[in-house]
Amino acid sequence: SWTTGNVIEEQVAAIREQVGDRRAICGLSGGVDSAVAAALVQKAIGSQLTCVYVDHGLMRKGETEQVEKDFVAATGVQLKVVDAEERFLKALAGVSDPEEKRKIIGREFIRVFEQAQAEIIADEGPAVEFLVQGTLYPDVVESGGGTGTANIKSHHNVGGLPEDLEFQLIEPLRKLFKDEVRMVGQELGLPEEIVQRQPFPGPGLGIRIVGEVTKDRLDLLREADAIAREELTAAGLDRDIWQCPVVLLADVRSVGVQGDGRTYGHPIVLRPVSSEDAMTADWSRLPYEVLAKISTRITNEVRDVNRVVLDVTSKPPGTIEWE
Ligand code: XMP
Repeated sequence: SWTTGNVIEEQVAAIREQVGDRRAICGLSGGVDSAVAAALVQKAIGSQLTCVYVDHGLMRKGETEQVEKDFVAATGVQLKVVDAEERFLKALAGVSDPEEKRKIIGREFIRVFEQAQAEIIADEGPAVEFLVQGTLYPDVVESGGGTGTANIKSHHNVGGLPEDLEFQLIEPLRKLFKDEVRMVGQELGLPEEIVQRQPFPGPGLGIRIVGEVTKDRLDLLREADAIAREELTAAGLDRDIWQCPVVLLADVRSVGVQGDGRTYGHPIVLRPVSSEDAMTADWSRLPYEVLAKISTRITNEVRDVNRVVLDVTSKPPGTIEWE
């Protein structure tokens, strides 16, 4: 019968057999799938695995630390962190168009990842012949059951990985659904914050700033987003909503009155949605008290924000993200 314990045992044995005494690498995104895949492979082959985490500066508050500290503490994985914030900000300077942003972020991500990969390969030691991917069963079905390409998830990832890779893939989650992956993660002792994480787009906060992406705006949005997440968690609503994008309308200003005078600040949009698979979605009917608390805290605690608005559009016609 199916138990997480069986799945783990089976996969650990299969991975050991596949890799032998060679090495593998794995890109960590901060998401559930790559984290659980990495933890499984780590359990199987230990220090023969190296993980790479590209910090593009577009993560939410605390997420990079979650990978650097909590994930490493829970798994003992060997992690290479690349701090690429400046590089990404530079590449994004002056860009407002959403698809242009995605293209730039995807391109930079691949470059940084390849560089890190080359450095790992250049290290002393056995050959690096394997790449770990957090492909799930629905991804396999969606892509026609194909195997052996390194690109299955690229349609929904940060640009995917280069096509000319000569790695063999390790895909320990290929037979699992999302809820099963979470159970395996839990069994492997991963932190709750990683295992129960809601979906978050690869391009991160870069596509949650309507307008140009700057460090200042990212910092501001990070604060607002952290407040919304904190209050939703405190209200016990995490499992009820699919995700709640928090969006900064950086190119919009409106008049407000705060403290002793008039302000001319930016609106923050809350976009809580319920959904089964993100293909369609409905706006979540959050309790008024929770919305009030989030609104009060954001306008009090986040500089330059004087208005919080609620998105009450379903998908379709609206997408979940604003960009
Ligand atoms: P939309 O906005 O299309 O979002 O309704 C559907 C789901 O996909 C996520 N999303 C992305 N994920 N890269 C990603 O990895 C992207 O460029 C991207 N755009 C949207 C979104 O958060 C939602 O879960």
